[in-house]
Amino acid sequence: MTTSFPHHVETAGQAAGRTAGSAAISCVDLHYAFGATKAVDGLDLRVEQGEVFGLLGPNGAGKTTTIRAITTLLPVPPGVVEVFGHDAARQKMAVRRLLGYVPQQLSADAGLTGRENVALFARVFDVPRRERAARVAQALDAVGLTDAAQRSAGTYSGGMVRRLELAQALVSAPRLLILDEPTIGMDPIARDSVWERISDIRAGTGMTVLVTTHSMEEADQRCDRLALMHRGRVRALGTPEELKAELIAHRRESGDADPRPPSLEDVFRHFAGSGLGDPGPDERRGEFSDVRRTRHTASRVG
Ligand SMILES: Nc1ncnc2c1ncn2[C@@H]1O[C@H](COP(=O)(O)OP(=O)(O)O)[C@@H](O)[C@H]1O
Ligand SMILES: [Mg+2]
Repeated sequence: MTTSFPHHVETAGQAAGRTAGSAAISCVDLHYAFGATKAVDGLDLRVEQGEVFGLLGPNGAGKTTTIRAITTLLPVPPGVVEVFGHDAARQKMAVRRLLGYVPQQLSADAGLTGRENVALFARVFDVPRRERAARVAQALDAVGLTDAAQRSAGTYSGGMVRRLELAQALVSAPRLLILDEPTIGMDPIARDSVWERISDIRAGTGMTVLVTTHSMEEADQRCDRLALMHRGRVRALGTPEELKAELIAHRRESGDADPRPPSLEDVFRHFAGSGLGDPGPDERRGEFSDVRRTRHTASRVG
């Protein structure tokens, strides 16, 4: 498999507008409410360039809302969200040009072939006309869909649709790839294959990745750093090892002599008051509606 993915090329204007050494993502005291529901409630987050950053939390924690604010799909006030130094309120188009986004809900068009789906994104994301065919081919190759590219996406398995969506997000050679629950409902083999593609591309381009998941295992294995999010806020932040070490230190201080090495699940329970495995009524409701939404769209695709 060849994964010679193009580096993102900045225009002079983009380069000038970007502050040196800026974070890939910076959110300062981000709030977002849907009516009386405070989906994001004072979130501070800084994702460094080149890292794989995991936003972890139960359903309803505010992960998708945070991502939609970062991608400029939800309005935020100036000075709150920046992507590579570009303000998400004042420089929307500059922000959009830098990122690729795989939404939580399935987004491929079942009536088009795999190649047509990716070509559509290449047009929407302004890939120069003369580069389009090559970039579409590269993106399909990077996710292992070259052989299936002529088939209609309606014939794809769930895992193939997810990889197709990844190709759609990659075709613009983003500096920041944002994935919302990319592997939900996938078997372990399909899950590993998606992560292998991502890591190949990162090795070639230095792309930054922001991913949400509620799989502790995935977070532990795949992310450089994690933010544990609960009720609209970051409750703990660090590498998986740092988070576990923090819990061990806390246990020691409080005289709790639990001899087992903590898992991320234990860390989460400690910082959020409940584990991901035992969601409260609010989270449980969120979970059902997420599954229903995903199924609904999946049946549209299938
Ligand atoms: N479009 C919407 N309208 C009303 N409430 C919403 C909407 N989107 C999300 N919410 C609510 O905001 C909260 C956070 O949701 P979300 O950001 O989707 O969390 P997560 O992605 O962590 O599951 C939840 O209580 C959810 O029900
Ligand atoms: Mg979500």
